[in-house]
Amino acid sequence: MAKKALVTGITGQDGSYLAEFLLKKGYDVFGLERRASTKNRGNIKHIESEIHFISGDMLDSNSLIRAISEAQPDEIYNLAAQSFVAESWHQKRYTHEVNSSGVINLLEAVYEVKPDAKVYQAGTSEMFGKVQETPQKETTPFYPRSPYGIAKLAAYWTVVNFRESYSLFACSGLLFNHESPRRGLEFVTRKITNAVVQIKLGLIDKFFLGNIGTKRDWGFAGDYVAAMWLMLQQNEPDDFVIATGKTNTVRKFVELAFEAVNIKIESNGKKGVDEKYIRTDTGSVVLEINSKFFRPAEVYLLMGDSSKARKKLGWKPKVNFEELVRMMVKSDLKLLSKK
Ligand code: NAP
Ligand code: GDD
Repeated sequence: MAKKALVTGITGQDGSYLAEFLLKKGYDVFGLERRASTKNRGNIKHIESEIHFISGDMLDSNSLIRAISEAQPDEIYNLAAQSFVAESWHQKRYTHEVNSSGVINLLEAVYEVKPDAKVYQAGTSEMFGKVQETPQKETTPFYPRSPYGIAKLAAYWTVVNFRESYSLFACSGLLFNHESPRRGLEFVTRKITNAVVQIKLGLIDKFFLGNIGTKRDWGFAGDYVAAMWLMLQQNEPDDFVIATGKTNTVRKFVELAFEAVNIKIESNGKKGVDEKYIRTDTGSVVLEINSKFFRPAEVYLLMGDSSKARKKLGWKPKVNFEELVRMMVKSDLKLLSKK
């Protein structure tokens, strides 16, 4: 009989790649979908007919109990979250409710309805925040720097506690930033590729960013969902860092994106820290720094050490940083040229 998986956050970036991955492996895929006035299935349009949708919300315990009762899943992947860090300062309580209390709701429901289901919780490198060592690994002390990071850290400890209290098979993946052509437009990578392509096509002259000196360990979402699955195939539940081990500035991402559309931008050697503008080699301003996009507290550097996952799960990323930027630019070029 086919294995059954319940995926929360199925309409999001990771949910769509994970659903594809599980369908290819022969799973029956159930997706928890929250109600919206207009359906938001753009990322999963191509596989929509293969998914069993169940309506529900992380804030509504009964809907989670119903979803688990209906799906009777072998595996549950909790990807649902208010995932935009910048927004978490504007909606602190809501972010905490969805990203932390929502996880309690889900784990209680698992314990009540299907305690033998294996659970994956989407943890994050944001929990390392003001990093206490570099690279960051499973044993690195946490120091979250945003309401989002705080909520995710509470969820992380909730997973540990359910594991230790009730022997649930529950794991947290400590995933570093991962991107794709399906990334939401407000995240910096997609914001850049989308804007650079618009500039290339003559649709806009310039765009605005915040701190372009911050560093992230960026991988490809398609590679990272495989690690989620691998965690649930182990004999014992455990937590794993998933990362490429390489870090780059936002400015470097900008440089590579412009390079991918053959626009030459100036390199003033300031590495993004004090820059106010970036110009092309012909002098046009294509990027302006705007304080509106700076955060009240920033995570300046993330770089993960995923040796544990590489050794125990046999996982490693396939797409590197340069390929990722080119993939996203190419996709936006196709999308925007069509429009
Ligand atoms: P995403 O694209 O923003 O997707 C979030 C998903 O959660 C969407 O399907 C959204 O549904 C759903 N959702 C939000 N609030 C909900 C609620 N109250 N009840 C039910 N569903 C709700 O995020 P992602 O990039 O795929 O990330 C997936 C997970 O991994 C998130 O938990 C995120 O925090 C975590 N994470 C992401 C990264 C990364 O770099 N991408 C790294 C580490 C951890 P709608 O479509 O209806 O909005
Ligand atoms: N979004 C955004 N917009 N970020 C900007 C901008 C801008 O205009 N300008 C500079 N940045 C900087 C941010 O300050 C941050 O340092 C970096 O770009 C990355 O920002 P995001 O792409 O918004 O991602 P994030 O690192 O805050 O959070 C993502 O990764 C986490 C894992 O570390 C999200 O996917 C989280 O859900 C995830 O947990």
